Amino acid sequence: MKTTNESSVGESANIRDMLLMGRRMKLRERMLAYGQFMEQLRSGGTDLLRREVLSAADRVVLVRDPNTGHTRSMLMFGSNNYLGLANHPHVLEAVRRAMLSHGAGLGGPPLLNGYTTLHRELEARLAALKGSEDALLFSSGYGANVGIATGLFQKQDVILFDSCSHASFVDGMSLAGPQRYPFRHNDMDDLAAQLRRHVEAPGDIYVAVEGVYSMDGDTAPLARIVSLCREHAAILLLDDAHGTGVLGAHGSGTAEACGVHGQIDLTMGTFSKAFGMAGGFLAASSALIDYLRVFARSYMFSASLPPIVVAAVLAGLDIVAAEPERRERLWSNIDYAVNSLNAVGIPVRTDSAILALRVPERMNIRHAATAFHERGLFVNSIEYPAVPLREQRFRISLMATHTHEDIDRLVEATAEIWSRFGSMQIGVAA
Ligand SMILES: Cc1ncc(COP(=O)(O)O)c(C=O)c1O
Repeated sequence: MKTTNESSVGESANIRDMLLMGRRMKLRERMLAYGQFMEQLRSGGTDLLRREVLSAADRVVLVRDPNTGHTRSMLMFGSNNYLGLANHPHVLEAVRRAMLSHGAGLGGPPLLNGYTTLHRELEARLAALKGSEDALLFSSGYGANVGIATGLFQKQDVILFDSCSHASFVDGMSLAGPQRYPFRHNDMDDLAAQLRRHVEAPGDIYVAVEGVYSMDGDTAPLARIVSLCREHAAILLLDDAHGTGVLGAHGSGTAEACGVHGQIDLTMGTFSKAFGMAGGFLAASSALIDYLRVFARSYMFSASLPPIVVAAVLAGLDIVAAEPERRERLWSNIDYAVNSLNAVGIPVRTDSAILALRVPERMNIRHAATAFHERGLFVNSIEYPAVPLREQRFRISLMATHTHEDIDRLVEATAEIWSRFGSMQIGVAA
């Protein structure tokens, strides 16, 4: 067996090696190896995890530099606070009022002491946003997806899910143990073939897709998926974590943008993206929500969202309805960023506020991440195993509050870093 020292660590520390090696180790050994791995990352100056943010989540943030310990100002391109609601005065005022009326938290789950008039109001407002009859709140988006699986799936059910589905949905399926089959990402022929293959299944057939795929920013062809589900009597589950608040004329989400508003059997959403908070929800018919209220284990056995969070999301919904210009600014920023990156020869396309900058094969993603950091740009690097090894990328999240000058800085830095660490020629239009 290889020891940690023999494996590729340090400058090229490889988390894949770490994972493979760890499979054969007992916990104590694994912890030791992991500690050494992290230490080598730190000493190589490439540990950008857990950068401490010292100010509100906004386009400019104060960050404690993990390498120097000094505080510096950085342009934030790593937060999914797409509409800039996390620091919006109306939201902050709602939080202050909720704190005065309800205190800080509830100390219990929703079926016991954790249900307030604010929770009920938010359920009704979210149901209206999604064109559904009712909704249910969870303490995270992760918990909402686990709630779907634990509440609905049985062993004899068949789940056809997009191969790019989020880890929270995949984990939920593992807990519930239905028969599960991935279909090729956004491949409607593959989905149709699998629906035909399982039409005689003894249980229910569910189709699970995302409105916006979080690693690439592309959207699902929802209108086609809705009709395929109808044709085959399958139940459609839509994770609209990144579409809610951003897509559609009213910010209702991907279903609105695709012309199938109100036609989804069960929609999941989070408060950790466009609402700039944390928490999640499911929206569906009253009968399904009533059922999930007692059978979704992550709802029943987890403490309620604090009223201050619920109030913040309610205030966020006010802004989603009253300030469509935020969405317009966001879309103008998306177009500007895509065009500017393409103009310097960095090919990128998106259907959302997520830009996936695929790292050229010869580029060391950690060196490039350090270079972004040194230039005062906070971006997220997505490494294996979150994505396949050959598909590592920087994920840029755009916000309505970014200026075109902010985006120019991002584009200039990206072109420079690509030319320094990759093999590309810059200045060539894609
Ligand atoms: C598509 C998708 N679903 C679910 C989640 C989980 O949501 P949360 O982070 O709010 O728990 C995320 C968050 O990254 C996501 O991107």
